[in-house]
Amino acid sequence: MSTVVVVGVQWGDEGKGKVVDLLAREADIIVRFQGGSNAGHTLVVGGKKTVVRLIPSGVLHSGKVCVIANGVVVDPETLVEEIDTLQQQGCLSDASLLKISETAHLIMPYHKAIDIARERLRGEGKIGTTGRGIGPTYEDKMARAGLRFVDLLDDEIFSEKLARSLQEKNSYLSLILKETPLEYQQILDNYLRFRDRLAPYVTNTSLYLHHEIMRGRKVLFEGAQGTMLDIDHGTYPYVTSSNTVAGAVCTGAGIAPQQINGVIGISKAYTTRVGSGPFPTELFGSEGETIRRKGGEFGTVTGRPRRCGWFDAVVARTAARLNGVNSFALTKIDVLSGFSTLRVCTAYEYKGQRYEEMPASANVLEQLTPIYEELPGWSEHLTDIRSLDALPVNTRRYVERIEQLVNVPVKMISVGAGREETILIRPTFF
Ligand code: IMP
Repeated sequence: MSTVVVVGVQWGDEGKGKVVDLLAREADIIVRFQGGSNAGHTLVVGGKKTVVRLIPSGVLHSGKVCVIANGVVVDPETLVEEIDTLQQQGCLSDASLLKISETAHLIMPYHKAIDIARERLRGEGKIGTTGRGIGPTYEDKMARAGLRFVDLLDDEIFSEKLARSLQEKNSYLSLILKETPLEYQQILDNYLRFRDRLAPYVTNTSLYLHHEIMRGRKVLFEGAQGTMLDIDHGTYPYVTSSNTVAGAVCTGAGIAPQQINGVIGISKAYTTRVGSGPFPTELFGSEGETIRRKGGEFGTVTGRPRRCGWFDAVVARTAARLNGVNSFALTKIDVLSGFSTLRVCTAYEYKGQRYEEMPASANVLEQLTPIYEELPGWSEHLTDIRSLDALPVNTRRYVERIEQLVNVPVKMISVGAGREETILIRPTFF
């Protein structure tokens, strides 16, 4: 049995796409288990950039099976577009290389309309969602009112459920949110068209994964977003609507806890966040601007500038515990070249109390004071370096200090966006 989970330990955008793409070389199957097209993983291979939102980041490796498991909420329109683009690039040539769970929930046009309208009404207090309908779709799932792929496969069931759901949503949209109601026939026609394209991929992915794991195939579970965006453990209410922690693999892919062998946590060498919500180590001046510019810190899905700040060991420590992280991959360390001094947050302080782990209250999070430690920076360009020994001594010190503060060994360091721009300290993952 050989399975590995990859999760982000910050607020998403940690560079999971690149790490999964690299690890996928060793894996047979790559699985998405939560989230939806709010994720956007950027892959750079041979200088060419590909963004995937729903299909696992391992898709660029030929012959690997990609699974969209039951915990994912799927916008079929986005998925069809993604399949088309990838097929034009020569990927997914065979239908058996993509599997979609029959119990995954469908994002419907009214979910997106509700998401966007609610954000507009929230004004200053908005969450800063991606506007992809993620929250409203998970709400319907929990309210037992959602539409799933298994419904879509049956014309009669789907049209009936859609009619019922749309009647309620249109009342909500027009009466409460003051939006234009949506048209039934148009949605039905579009979704039946998507169905015709996607039906060949729909299957019982939980059972498929069980059989494959039992026969020793290597399975990589690819998390989306990050631990601080987890609906239970993140900076609520400024979170996404799914569980993003490693434990969500069990429910989100329908596998047993004993079937998980290892967890890799992905962290940037600094911190970023998109959307609203507390961010204790955020930088507002020129240092934050430098990180944003050098790191190209703009959202993959929405293009929004990401908020940037120092590395936060409280965040990483909390996430390491919640996920059972065995090793870290530290990404974008090259972006920190040129700072004479770097700061790392080791703990927080609020009203005389010291916090080594994330406090639950959004109020405390907004007002606490980060406790910083200063470390000497480095000026060298790191992107061409391929071994730990060749890194400047201060870079190595920075990495070692993070390992100490979080109590997790770093297994991989990313020094650039390309697949090859990577230092593998412990080369195998399975
Ligand atoms: P939602 O997931 O679209 O509902 O957005 C909720 C919050 O999660 C917002 O702050 C988003 O910016 C954030 N978010 C969602 N997906 C991602 C992601 O893939 N990376 C980073 N932030 C994300």
